[in-house]
Amino acid sequence: MKLVKTINELRNVIANWRSEGKTVGLVPTMGWFHLGHLSLMKMAKGKADKVVVSLFINPMQFGQGEDLAAYPYDLSRDMHLAEKEGVDLLFAPSSEEMYPEGFQTSITVKNLSQGLCGASRPVHFAGVATVVAKLFNMVQPDLAIFGKKDFQQLAVIRQMVKDLNFNIEILGHPLVREDDGLAMSSRNSYLNQEERRNARCLYRAITSVREKVSGEGTEPSVAQLTDEVTRMINATSGCAVEYVEVVDKETLQKSATINRNSIIVLAVKINGRVRLIDNALLYPEENDS
Ligand code: PAF
Repeated sequence: MKLVKTINELRNVIANWRSEGKTVGLVPTMGWFHLGHLSLMKMAKGKADKVVVSLFINPMQFGQGEDLAAYPYDLSRDMHLAEKEGVDLLFAPSSEEMYPEGFQTSITVKNLSQGLCGASRPVHFAGVATVVAKLFNMVQPDLAIFGKKDFQQLAVIRQMVKDLNFNIEILGHPLVREDDGLAMSSRNSYLNQEERRNARCLYRAITSVREKVSGEGTEPSVAQLTDEVTRMINATSGCAVEYVEVVDKETLQKSATINRNSIIVLAVKINGRVRLIDNALLYPEENDS
């Protein structure tokens, strides 16, 4: 596996692959790889001749007071893990390489960036869209893969690709969970033992309302489901709901009633410090996340 830190070298390696007729898949990441990332890499390996993984903790997508400085980073650990997955190139640029002095462009996907995570993270999705557009222009991949855990991010990126005519296939990979159901995230590393135990309440609450939806009897209303999830999570020590909503999995519009496209989406603060998100389709038989 090649470790590349400059855009010039990245373009040269990819031009060589292209001259040999190879297809290219991109997996954008901020590093500190867990099994979720590794499964995105595996999926890319199955779909493209060459796989590029980018590792860049993008300052533009962190707001004031967020965890930019604390975000876990260990390049040699991640290199080792990516290499084991058969990744061909790890692109790990510096901030200066990505945002040289004078950088002033920002891409905003207006409606989809508002609400849900966008409500408490007003600059986040413009930062994501901008860095992903830059990576798309640098790598010019045939396809790019993103995790469905970040459901709003995936919707924002799909919309950007459509609006800006990127000729790139966007694939979503199902959310990957720990054995006890906690969605895998680099941010789980911030949790101490007790917080990690309490964080199980997210999946417990999701499972409980999904059982209600698929169970016998009248289908619960959206308000009943979101109230129950909120109650279960807020009753767990140190856990506070930031939002719980039932939305359409494509448009992210609030669902008035539950249907096969409805996903329950939530963000929870653990001890006011660690922000976790999760989501799941409400009909388990069609659940792919
Ligand atoms: O999902 C992430 O890790 C990041 O938001 C992404 C897509 C790599 C952009 O920085």
